Amino acid sequence: MIEITGLHKSFGEQKVLTGVDLQIPARKSTVILGRSGVGKSVLLKHIIGLVRPDRGRILIDGVDITKLGDTEINEMRKRFGMLFQDAALFDSMTVGANVAFPLYEHTNLKEKEIARIVAQKLEQVGLPGEEGKMPAQLSGGMKRRVGLARALALDPEIVLFDEPTAGLDPPMAEAIEELITQTQQDLGRTFVVITHSIHTAFHVGHKIAMLHEGKIIEEGSPRAFRKSLNPVVQAFLTPGEGKEEQA
Ligand SMILES: Nc1ncnc2c1ncn2[C@@H]1O[C@H](COP(=O)(O)OP(=O)(O)OP(=O)(O)O)[C@@H](O)[C@H]1O
Ligand SMILES: [Mg+2]
Repeated sequence: MIEITGLHKSFGEQKVLTGVDLQIPARKSTVILGRSGVGKSVLLKHIIGLVRPDRGRILIDGVDITKLGDTEINEMRKRFGMLFQDAALFDSMTVGANVAFPLYEHTNLKEKEIARIVAQKLEQVGLPGEEGKMPAQLSGGMKRRVGLARALALDPEIVLFDEPTAGLDPPMAEAIEELITQTQQDLGRTFVVITHSIHTAFHVGHKIAMLHEGKIIEEGSPRAFRKSLNPVVQAFLTPGEGKEEQA
């Protein structure tokens, strides 16, 4: 469903992506794994058209989004939900208003209908009836849940997660991994999860790809990925080097 070919991106002298090739299958969870600073967020931003590549193609259902104008990109973006790094909630708005935000932005639905959808999405992420809380009253894990409810508000075909478990303690990270897996199963949508956590990668991924020095150096099913002969992958997967907790 998403086909990335020969993607290049530099910022000034710094080459971040130097020929990324990756196929992201529809209705599955694909994990992009890589160390901090390797360009994972930059790659994700290309997929939703927030960043334009220097070179390369990104086909979504056969349409090259790198060729689209701003209005067309905006239109396309409605098909995406995104859970930003650190959830990125609006702190001055209630949980309910945060989840309702994309519905007010992108639809002409009546208030009552929006309230119904918000309640349903909060229920889906395990926070029923929490509309009135403020983000400051929430734990890190709850914030991610609200961020996910907001990402799901428009019933997107593709949901992107930028480091959904970073900064959470292990039980909370696991609860979020479980929620991602369950939501993907329930909705059958295309999920793309970016993480530097091996634990998260193996818990949520149907497919795992590793970004390293500007390229995808390995990809496959979790089982095949684990057996990779690539020494960089093996070093990353080897416990005891503190890589999982990096960043
Ligand atoms: N808009 C920008 N302008 C200049 N440099 C940028 C920009 N966005 C990202 N970079 C640089 O690109 C590199 C990759 O950044 P990116 O945020 O994609 O890393 P990451 O893999 O997501 O890291 P982390 O795991 O810490 O989130 C970094 O060196 C960053 O400074
Ligand atoms: Mg990042």
